[in-house]
Amino acid sequence: MTNPPASNPVSRSGQEEILTDHSYDGIQEYDNPLPGWWKFLFWLFIFFAPLYVLYFHFGVEGRTVYDQYDRKMASIFELKFRKIGSLTPDRETITKFMNDPEGLGFGKVVFKTNCVSCHGAKGEGAIGPNLTDDHWKNVRNIEDIAKVISEGAANGAMPAWKTRLSHINQIVLTAAYVASLRENPEAGPRPPEGNVIPPWGE
Ligand code: HEC
Repeated sequence: MTNPPASNPVSRSGQEEILTDHSYDGIQEYDNPLPGWWKFLFWLFIFFAPLYVLYFHFGVEGRTVYDQYDRKMASIFELKFRKIGSLTPDRETITKFMNDPEGLGFGKVVFKTNCVSCHGAKGEGAIGPNLTDDHWKNVRNIEDIAKVISEGAANGAMPAWKTRLSHINQIVLTAAYVASLRENPEAGPRPPEGNVIPPWGE
């Protein structure tokens, strides 16, 4: 049986307190390791953090709570389609929904679900052209946006969405969202394409 060294006092709980083997200016300290469960959580969270960042910030589009919220709001708005009826893809309707936060939010969800792979998360362009600048290839006025979404362009390089999206309102509201992107131009990876066209109102 080994007796503790005389320098190791006994705590009030009756347990032996282990002293570390150094002393500075005559000051000694107890060897007081953190409990196992504490260290386990410490390492667990360190390993968890990079996975969290990768999943939510570098993963596929649409995983954040903001995106989930947008999708919920869009599905609520979709319930109103019966009341709204079928929208006409004309200048007046598209312009009206550019100022309607609910309609725009709906268009944004359609865009995030179907269009970001080719046009970028903010419409800045990728495989397809930048939709936030003043240069346009197939579009002269705001109603052309709905036409291109519906019919496609460049022999299907831009797909026709009229058969893929289930309701004309999806096309009209997405056109309103796309038209609104021009308010915040984003630099993209592609050079400007097409001709400079006047602002939507003109
Ligand atoms: C498979 C890739 C792809 C997807 C997905 C796609 N687009 Fe496109 N889009 C293109 C390409 C490529 C063009 C350019 C066509 C051309 O060269 O005339 C284009 C052009 C456009 C234009 C006209 C731009 C201009 O300058 O004339 C609009 C508006 C547009 N897309 C909107 C959308 C919307 C809204 C969606 C989602 C519903 C979408 N696109 C999904 C590839 C895509």
